[in-house]
Amino acid sequence: MNENDIESVSPEALADTLFELIGVRFEPKAASDLWPQIQQHKWLLSEKLGRDVGLRTACVDFVDNMEQAVSEYVAYNRMDLLKEMGAQKIGREAWDMIADSQPPKQLVQRKIIVPLTEEDLSRKHGVVPPKAIIFFGPPGTGKTHFVKAIAGVLSWWYIEISPSLLMADGVEKMGANLRRIMEKARGLEEVVIFIDEFEELAASRDEGTRLDKSITNEFLKQVPLLKIAGNKLLLVCATNYIRQLDAALLRPGRFDCIIPVGALSNEERKTILRYYLSRVNTQAVDLEKLVRLTAGFTPADIEYLFQQVAQYAFEQELALKRDYGVTDETVLRILPTIKPSLSEEIIAEFEADKLTYSRA
Ligand SMILES: Nc1ncnc2c1ncn2[C@@H]1O[C@H](COP(=O)(O)OP(=O)(O)O)[C@@H](O)[C@H]1O
Ligand SMILES: [Mg+2]
Repeated sequence: MNENDIESVSPEALADTLFELIGVRFEPKAASDLWPQIQQHKWLLSEKLGRDVGLRTACVDFVDNMEQAVSEYVAYNRMDLLKEMGAQKIGREAWDMIADSQPPKQLVQRKIIVPLTEEDLSRKHGVVPPKAIIFFGPPGTGKTHFVKAIAGVLSWWYIEISPSLLMADGVEKMGANLRRIMEKARGLEEVVIFIDEFEELAASRDEGTRLDKSITNEFLKQVPLLKIAGNKLLLVCATNYIRQLDAALLRPGRFDCIIPVGALSNEERKTILRYYLSRVNTQAVDLEKLVRLTAGFTPADIEYLFQQVAQYAFEQELALKRDYGVTDETVLRILPTIKPSLSEEIIAEFEADKLTYSRA
């Protein structure tokens, strides 16, 4: 076919010609849209190579690069979306600083991390990795930390969606905002989406206002959509008040797992204490003693304790103008000013919730 008589050629004939040249069948409309671009590419390629390339060569090169251009375009869009949603990369340390025995590390490892990392084996045995989970437990027990740790150990993106972001355009738009975010999320790969203070969004519809109901309903729609989408995504919602969540959301078939995050044993406190001790300028500290004295402390309490210890040590050295190393005495000085978050009452309530709501 002569390159100049394209005006007179039907789209069907162009599709046939393209098929003969490169073995790919385009719709006639697509073929006639592509034709001018192929002509242009033939010219460009000839210029680049300094010789007249044949139509077949031009076509093949064009189609090859078109695929690359399309995938580059998809990747570019995805990066843009990740940026827009405030995606972060989290290091592995967040996972490593959790003692192996600290619940729910083992459970998360077995149910989430391994099925996602051993894909072929999961497929072979029909194990479906969870797509949507809930963490519940008293404040400061490490729910947020666990979500970040999961993203870190998987090397996935971490995206936090705060209730205030969903409410930014007024409460009436909450449902629509959630839908928009979830639609975007379904186009992403390897992301952990975290929604904190979940009870603020998905409170029980019995007591909620009309608006609360609409966002709860939106969640009921969005979670199944997430599950059928083929992308690698984990939605984690966290709440301090599992009792306030709408019962429909807690039923099997919505969230895959409902996981308690609670008090620390002596061993687990020891791991965290050791971590924070390693970050201050210590002289001599009796770790066992500190473990005994921090019963009822959450990870957040321990973190706070060491912020105070660090500040104290820093000020001492500044005032005394000589090396100040943290000792038992330093820690004991600060300790009485911090009340452990986990009272017996809170622990009893949490134990009851564990029995009622946990599902793995
Ligand atoms: N092993 C650990 N497990 C959980 N949190 C830890 C651990 N070690 C240190 N932390 C720190 O303790 C704090 C726990 O608070 P957070 O995760 O915000 O609790 P929650 O989300 O349950 O309120 C975080 O600052 C976290 O980095
Ligand atoms: Mg939190």
